[in-house]
Parts: sequence; C-alpha cells; structure tokens
Amino acid sequence: MSTPTIPSTQKAYKWSQFTGIENLVLHSNEKIEKPQRKQVLVRLHAASLNYRDYLVATGTYLAPCSAGLIPLSDGAGEIVQVGQDVTQFKVGDRVAGTFFENWQDGEVNDHAISRSLGGGSVPGVLQQYRVFEEDGLVKIPNYLTYEQASTLPCAALTAWVALVENGLDKVGPNSTVLIIGTGGVSLFGLQFAISAGAKTIVLSSSDEKLEKAKALGATHLVNYRKHPDWHVQVKELTNGRGVDHVVEVGGDGTLFRSLNSVRKGGHVHMIGVLSKAQDHNNLAGVLLSNLINLKGIFVGSRGSFERMNRAFEQHAIQPVIDSVFEFEKAKEALEYLASGKHFGKIVIKID
Ligand SMILES: NC(=O)c1ccc[n+]([C@@H]2O[C@H](COP(=O)([O-])OP(=O)(O)OC[C@H]3O[C@@H](n4cnc5c(N)ncnc54)[C@H](OP(=O)(O)O)[C@@H]3O)[C@@H](O)[C@H]2O)c1
Repeated sequence: MSTPTIPSTQKAYKWSQFTGIENLVLHSNEKIEKPQRKQVLVRLHAASLNYRDYLVATGTYLAPCSAGLIPLSDGAGEIVQVGQDVTQFKVGDRVAGTFFENWQDGEVNDHAISRSLGGGSVPGVLQQYRVFEEDGLVKIPNYLTYEQASTLPCAALTAWVALVENGLDKVGPNSTVLIIGTGGVSLFGLQFAISAGAKTIVLSSSDEKLEKAKALGATHLVNYRKHPDWHVQVKELTNGRGVDHVVEVGGDGTLFRSLNSVRKGGHVHMIGVLSKAQDHNNLAGVLLSNLINLKGIFVGSRGSFERMNRAFEQHAIQPVIDSVFEFEKAKEALEYLASGKHFGKIVIKID
C-alpha cells in the first residue's frame, strides 16, 4: 500500500467554553501531530454523538472540561502513519478509538477511567486527524462503514457490557429485557437482547418511534407519556413476574419505576442521567425486598470492545443511524441531539 500524503494542518472543532452548543468553534489551521513511540496517526472519517456530548457542551458533565477541548469521544477512521515500535497496527487498518484511553481489560479502577476522549482535557475526535496510543484503538468489523463503526465506542459498548458482560445472569431466550427510550444506548441494548433471543419491552415518548422499534423486532411497546406509571404495564406484560434486566438510561426520574419493573433477583443496569428525581423515598425498600442487583455501568474496556466487535461480526448487527450530518454542520447535529427527536444514532461525516 502506498503511504498516504499527510497535510501539515487540519480542521478541528473546539469548545471555547461550556455554556451551550453556540460555543463550538471550527478552526481550520490546526497542526497535525506526528505519532511518537507506540502511537499512530488516524485519519478520521466519521464521528458519532452521545448524550454525554450535550452534557459537556452545557457544563453539566460529571468531569470539568478545559476550554479548547476538541469534542466527541466516538470516531472511526484509517491509520495513515505509525510511530516507532508499533506492533498491533499498520497503515491502512480501519480502526475506532476506545472511550477510555487507559482501560485495557478486566476490573475497573481509578486509573482505567481517568482519561476519556472528548472530556476533561483529552482531545476528542471532531477533527480530521488524531494521534492515538496504539493501546487506545480497536480494529472495526469489516462489514461496517466508517459511519456505522463510529457509533460503537460509547453507546454500543455500554449496552454490551450491561447485557452481555455484566453479572452472572446472562440474557438469553428465557429472558425479558426492558429498554428505556430509543436513543443510542437503548437501541443497541434492544439489538443485543434480540440477538440473544430474549423478549423485549421498549418504552418511548413517541408512538412513531415505538413502531420503528417494533420493526427492529421489539416484542412489546409502551408509550411512557401515555402511561407515566409504566411499571404497571411492564408487570402486566410479564404476567406479574417482572423483567430480568432493565437498560436504565433514565436516571433519578425513572429508577423507582425500573426497580418496580424487575423480577425478584433481577438486574437493573444503571447507565443514564436523563431525568430529574421524583418524590419517591422508598428506593432502598424496593431494592432489598426484591433482592435486586443494581449495577453502575461506565462504558467499558478495550477488551470488551474487541469481544463486542466479534459479536457484531457474528450477528451482522446493523447500527441504527437516524441521520448523518456534514462536518460543517456539527452544531446542527448537536442541536438535533438536544431536541430528542432522534431514533438511534446521529453521525457526523469527516472528510
Ligand atoms: N454510564 C455510561 O457509561 C453511559 C454511556 C452512554 C450513555 N450514558 C447515559 O445514558 C443516557 C442515554 O444516552 P444516549 O447517548 O443513548 O442518549 P440519546 O441517544 O440522546 O437517547 C436518549 C433517549 O432516552 C429517552 N428518554 C429521555 N428522557 C426520558 C425519560 N424521562 N424517561 C424515559 N426515557 C427517556 C428518549 O427516548 P424516546 O425519544 O424514545 O422517548 C431519548 O431519545 C444519557 O444519560 C447518557 O449520559 C451513560
């Protein structure tokens, strides 16, 4: 393969401050770094948005961020240059970055989750070229386009760790999985549950989105606006037993209902922070009287990403992409995310 020509400068977005999407600024003369020992240079072709990017934009993300931060954690592209002593990759490999730079595999610890792309002061992927540690990349499944592969690092991996790698009670044909919402994490959760043969119950604010979930293979549908006490419907749909797993992206405002939707000894995978607390003060009582396994999830390791990619290859799962925006329209893409109109993932093309 001939060596690609690498320009000396590139376009990159940066946050000037964190009080809203209007602070996203496109810079067109940014230096392209050279890969050092054990590093590679990736030409990024696509990036995808997560709700986290909206939290970063509005200064409400859990870690404080530094002005000048390059946004977004999730991107895919091709390796165009390798540094000294790189052993895992070569020029031309199709790759995606890992959400956490330091979490290789196994149990989590403070170091593993100390650096995440597009947060704190760690540059993200909304730029044309980025230097990565070779340990901070995975090869992407062959059958996926760059746009599809850019949806995997955060949303897909979070759902994968929750439903496949987390805990003792694996999702299978005898399981029922409750999926809250129809955003990025939720639809990957739906697809993993379906590919394991499980029954699913999908909650959404929109009947139109529920119909789309049905087309993907969802078993039962509940509109949570029409049924604010949706745990009652969930119990009815499971003949009073409750579900085995909940993909809990709602947070404080949905946790009480999730705990009341799960069977005795079932699993609530605590992922999201989308809604505010409601006036329920018996969380502890419900949790212990139903012997519920409540587990926090924080994306996952590189090893989990590699195992997930093998499952993608095996099941040929097609990520659900709602819309693809041009690089120059990144602000519009973030505004669309904030509107909540999307079904699945929002992608930005980088060319
Ligand atoms: N812990 C982790 O590692 C991790 C990883 C990824 C994401 N997250 C978190 O998980 C959440 C989802 O992230 P995402 O990127 O998938 O977001 P997203 O693509 O924007 O999807 C959010 C969806 O959640 C649903 N929703 C919103 N408010 C709700 C409510 N009050 N009750 C029930 N459903 C509600 C909506 O579905 P409908 O439009 O169908 O109603 C919405 O489309 C966010 O809080 C994010 O920060 C955490």
